[in-house]
Amino acid sequence: MVSFKYALGAIALPLLQLIWAGTAASAAAISAPTSLAAIPASTLTQITNFGTNPNNVLMFVYKPAKVAAKPALIVASHFCTGTAQIYFEGSKFASLAETHGFVVLFPSSPHPGTCWDVSSTATLTHNGGGDSLGIASAARFALANWGVDPARVFAAGTSSGAMMTSVLAGAYPDVFRAGAVDSGVAFGCFALPGQPDDSWNEQCALGELVLTGQQWAQRVFNAFPGFSGARPKMQVWHGTADTTLFPQNFFEEIKQWTTVFGYPSTPLSNVSESFLPAGYSNATFGPNFQAILAQGVGHTVPLFEQQYLQFFGLA
Ligand SMILES: *[C@@H]1O[C@H](CO)[C@@H](O)[C@H](O)[C@H]1NC(C)=O
Ligand SMILES: *[C@@H]1O[C@H](CO)[C@@H](O)[C@H](O)[C@H]1NC(C)=O
Repeated sequence: MVSFKYALGAIALPLLQLIWAGTAASAAAISAPTSLAAIPASTLTQITNFGTNPNNVLMFVYKPAKVAAKPALIVASHFCTGTAQIYFEGSKFASLAETHGFVVLFPSSPHPGTCWDVSSTATLTHNGGGDSLGIASAARFALANWGVDPARVFAAGTSSGAMMTSVLAGAYPDVFRAGAVDSGVAFGCFALPGQPDDSWNEQCALGELVLTGQQWAQRVFNAFPGFSGARPKMQVWHGTADTTLFPQNFFEEIKQWTTVFGYPSTPLSNVSESFLPAGYSNATFGPNFQAILAQGVGHTVPLFEQQYLQFFGLA
């Protein structure tokens, strides 16, 4: 079940939920839009019948007024107690889509506390089911029908949505090219086989699941045995004062992805950046992995969409 502490993570939430309550029913869902032309521009629109979706994940699309040729796609996943609408309103993904011409998918959790299924064996397995398959199906639908560039399909998310981003990167490396993880955990850290899909893994949350890089990497490899293609680039962000998903999770993520990429376990560089707040350090381990630690920041690190876009090669 949802941890109450976790639900308190997003500050502006109750207000946004009130706003949403008034507008939720305004737009009709579109079934299986087989072209971008079938989707209204510059408004969040629900889509249905986009492929295999065993948990009935809700799916919303944001198409900007001017879509770029062969557009990029970003899947933006909300935190617990959030929704697609709330994440859409509380982030800059949509306004940046207007600037850069990419398309955004905002999935919405079907579970009561709106945490994501990041714990079931199904969700942690390539084409195995769970929430991740529903989201991957929507991305595949976009690839098959909307002219999306397969080399530019990305995932980003906050908290539970950050965990989902890691799950998508680990279980669907054939679909996603990069992930931006804001205050999440390593792939497979929440694993709780046989328990309800949106289960809370207290051991992981508290930073008490400490494994070797090899053990973490093995969880990624086991998600899609036999996959030998390129793995998605990963950028992870975490606050040192996070008491929901303790900061040890940042260092477990580093062990995992440096091992997956075969990078050294210590960064090549670790610097403050002029465009980030004081106290943020940007550790680079290689071209495909960066880890940003925010000194004194709790759960969650604010969104840095512009930096995610740069990492994705979109800005
Ligand atoms: C980068 O440097 C900061 C500040 O010295 C430190 O707290 C952080 O742990 C370092 N990051 C990594 C990944 O080593
Ligand atoms: C981190 O440093 C790398 C290497 O200099 C740079 O490419 C990247 O943009 C930086 N990331 C952030 C979020 O500052």
